[in-house]
Amino acid sequence: MKSRDSITRMTLVGTGVVGAVIMVGGIAATVHMGMTSIPVHHLLHAGMTLGAGMLAIAMAAKLPARHSERSAWIIWAILAPILGLILMWPSEYAYLMEHHGLHMLDHLGIIAFSWLAVFAAQAYVRGLGWPMLVLMVAMNAAAAGGFGVAPAPSALLSLPLSTVTAENMGGTNALGVQATSLHVLGEQVAQNMGCGACHQVDGTKGIGPTWKNLAGYPQKLSDGTTAVANYQFLRDAILHPEHLQLEGFPPNRMPTTYGAMLSGPAHSDERELNAIIWYINSLSDRSTSASQPPVPDELEK
Ligand code: HEC
Repeated sequence: MKSRDSITRMTLVGTGVVGAVIMVGGIAATVHMGMTSIPVHHLLHAGMTLGAGMLAIAMAAKLPARHSERSAWIIWAILAPILGLILMWPSEYAYLMEHHGLHMLDHLGIIAFSWLAVFAAQAYVRGLGWPMLVLMVAMNAAAAGGFGVAPAPSALLSLPLSTVTAENMGGTNALGVQATSLHVLGEQVAQNMGCGACHQVDGTKGIGPTWKNLAGYPQKLSDGTTAVANYQFLRDAILHPEHLQLEGFPPNRMPTTYGAMLSGPAHSDERELNAIIWYINSLSDRSTSASQPPVPDELEK
């Protein structure tokens, strides 16, 4: 009877942990990305997994004792961790940041597969649920440590910068050290934010226009006028895509969420934004100071 009590207690603790973390996870996913950092977010996943796994172990105690009746669970013990891993696939990351509903589903999926993995392992062999629980939590926690996750834009931009001008873009600096130049950072930021889903850089048209030879080139607008893609134009196109109506492209397709992610009070220096515009400039043969962002203060000297 004593063990039964402790199992009930564990179920309660597990349910409590899952409930609390689901709530926080839900809020974090629904509220803006700026609220939590990427490591905190992934620690949250680890917490959800821990709760779900503890619940699973408590529930698995009710399974039949004979191993032969439980051996089929091996399939789920193998499949569930794999499915859970797919839900944490880094390349989905930018997409999920834009689609809160899917992000919520992703979280529910992580909880469900964590539960299933631990339950199935415990069902297959008594005791195997614990190492599985450790494995599943470790998988999530590893992402918090940066493993398998693209670094946050802000982390990238705190790296030492080298001077970037039209002349030396992409080069090495005077010391011969490979330059971490702004446009390389911009490329990574753009990649993290999922711009590549709609914008190609090789001249081919995607859902949105290619970034090749965009900066400094005239853009045809749907009202028949043209505008040169200078810095102000590019900045506006990214921060307020709802103002832009290019000829031959669907209006209102580009997400309007980048404005808050790249500008405003939390990003008043617009470093990520400018890095992206440097990157777009690096893809054009008409890049001039008119199409380039202001050079950051620390590079001015
Ligand atoms: C879901 C698709 C989609 C995503 C994701 C997307 N864009 Fe766009 N983008 C478009 C479309 C469509 C247009 C044309 C808009 C119009 O004409 O109304 C556009 C236009 C632009 C333009 C102006 C291009 C020109 O030829 O004048 C820039 C600059 C731009 N996007 C930058 C970005 C950046 C930077 C990101 C990522 C932070 C991004 N876009 C993400 C679809 C997208």
